Order: sequence, then structure tokens, then C-alpha cells
Amino acid sequence: MTPPALDHFVALAHAQSRGPFEPADCVLALAPLMLELIEQAPSFLEPQHYRSDPAHYARNLIHDASDGSLSLYALVWQPGQWTPVHDHGSWGVVGVVEGVLEERSFVRMSPDRGADTGIELVRGGVILLARGAVTSFVPNPDHIHVTGVPAERPRAVSLHLYGRMMTDFNTYDVAAGTRRRVTVAHNES
Ligand SMILES: [Fe+2]
Repeated sequence: MTPPALDHFVALAHAQSRGPFEPADCVLALAPLMLELIEQAPSFLEPQHYRSDPAHYARNLIHDASDGSLSLYALVWQPGQWTPVHDHGSWGVVGVVEGVLEERSFVRMSPDRGADTGIELVRGGVILLARGAVTSFVPNPDHIHVTGVPAERPRAVSLHLYGRMMTDFNTYDVAAGTRRRVTVAHNES
């Protein structure tokens, strides 16, 4: 049985994701609910949601919609583990359960014409998301960033809700100005 706090959140997230809402309205509605959900995290996170991997950050599935319209993961970041530069192709809401998650933004200077080359990215700001913090993003243009935990900080754990199954995303080679689609693995719940 799904724990009540998670059940409630998932039901509301489904209603938002299936409703006639713009992605920006969707994250506007879901961000406060994520704020509540991370407070309740000890009531529904189980040992398998805290699985880590010494080779890279770990993605542990908590819930996925049968129609693929929604997915919720617990991500575990050991010190020194980072994503590649990436976007999501989806709206998303992120909440930090433990530690400090660091997000380094990139700003796309070239127009997005759908091409995988000729992409000019410049470094943007940094955001430090401490326990209890919530952030979100919407697509088109998508949010391009690197997320992780510097080697000198302790482990972070974060909840990530996306408006699709997050089984692949665009990664960027900033120096080459290219991007490519890669598959990203996760642990089933
Ligand atoms: Fe991301």
C-alpha cells in the first residue's frame, strides 16, 4: 500500500499533469506540494530509495504512471557526484530531503532550432538547494544545467518529479557546442 503522504501527492500530481494546464501552471501548483512532501519523506522513503552507487549518482524510482505521464525518483548524490550538462524535455519539480544539492546553470546564447550542433552555452549562476528547498523548471526552452554535490560536502538526497518517464535526456558538450540524447538508468522500487 502506498503511504498516505505519497499517495496524496501522486494523486494531485496526476490531476495536474493530465489537466489542461501549461507546464508553468503545473509546477506552480506542484511546488508547494513538494515542499510538504519532503517534510513527510521519512514516512514513505524506504531503504531502497537511499541506494547509492560509487560510480555515479543513483536514481531510485518511487512512482511511475502507467501511461508514462509522470515519474518520481529519489536521487542519491555521494560527494563528488555530478550529472553531465543536461536538459529534461519536460517540466519538473525537485525537493531536497538531505544535504545540499548544487545546481550550476548554463544559458543558451544561440537560438534553439532543434539542431544538435552549433549550440552556444555560457555559464550562468549557481543555486545551493539545502534541505527543505524546492526548485522547478519548464521546457521550451528547457533548463540546461549541471547538478550534484562537490567532493567536500556530504551526501545529498532529493526527490524529482517529472512530467514524463525520465529514461533519457539531452546532454551537452559545451566546448564542442553539441548535444546528444542519452539513456539514463534507474533502480526500480
Ligand atoms: Fe536536471
